[in-house]
Amino acid sequence: MDIDYKKVAAVAAVAYIRPGMTVGFGAGSTMAHMINRLKEVPELVAEVVVVTSSYNTRQLLLEAGFRLQEPGMMAVLDFYFDGCDQFDVSLNALKSGGGIHTKEKLLAAMATRFVLVADGSKYVERLYTTFPVVIEVIPEAVTFVLRRIRELFREVNPQLRLSNRRDGAVMTDNGNMLIDIWFTQFPELAEINPLLKGIPGVLETSLFYRMAHEAVIAGRNGVEVIYK
Ligand code: 5RP
Repeated sequence: MDIDYKKVAAVAAVAYIRPGMTVGFGAGSTMAHMINRLKEVPELVAEVVVVTSSYNTRQLLLEAGFRLQEPGMMAVLDFYFDGCDQFDVSLNALKSGGGIHTKEKLLAAMATRFVLVADGSKYVERLYTTFPVVIEVIPEAVTFVLRRIRELFREVNPQLRLSNRRDGAVMTDNGNMLIDIWFTQFPELAEINPLLKGIPGVLETSLFYRMAHEAVIAGRNGVEVIYK
């Protein structure tokens, strides 16, 4: 039987959580594994205050009986746990898929410890361009931002994210739009966020540059913790 390394990493990450803590969770299947494990410990369900960036995770936390706080009521978290699509040796992470990175980044920034939780396949020496950098953009700015990105970076392919289910653009929880920026080669990682966030109308990017404090990964060699 194949081992689910996301689950192994998630179970290891749960060991960080103690009664009385305030803990944030991101989105995805690894986070679902964490919550499934946590709900087996009644003391943690009763005595941990939780907050999340994700609608699905919110439902899982509520069903498990946790005390849920709204992100807007929080300024500091003991921990924020989240998965990612890929992260590098400096713990820079790409979190491109869900389109909820603005809220995810907010919770990550509130956290005393931001911990990435992943299976080992997501850990790479340098980030690859197999994932886009995603930006959340106010609707009025989309055409302008697309133009400005093409001017700023050579060989990029920015695309407004469209919905598969209906004939229109994807709208975020904040009422904004998403642009997927497909680089053929990343510029200096340190430059990406300042350049993109310097464009009027851009709210946030999905590149988590030097934000994570540590990563818990699991693979064939067991569980490993990587520190910044
Ligand atoms: C959502 C994310 C997820 O954390 C990322 O896609 C990982 O998901 P999974 O745990 O299912 O592999 O960034 O925005």
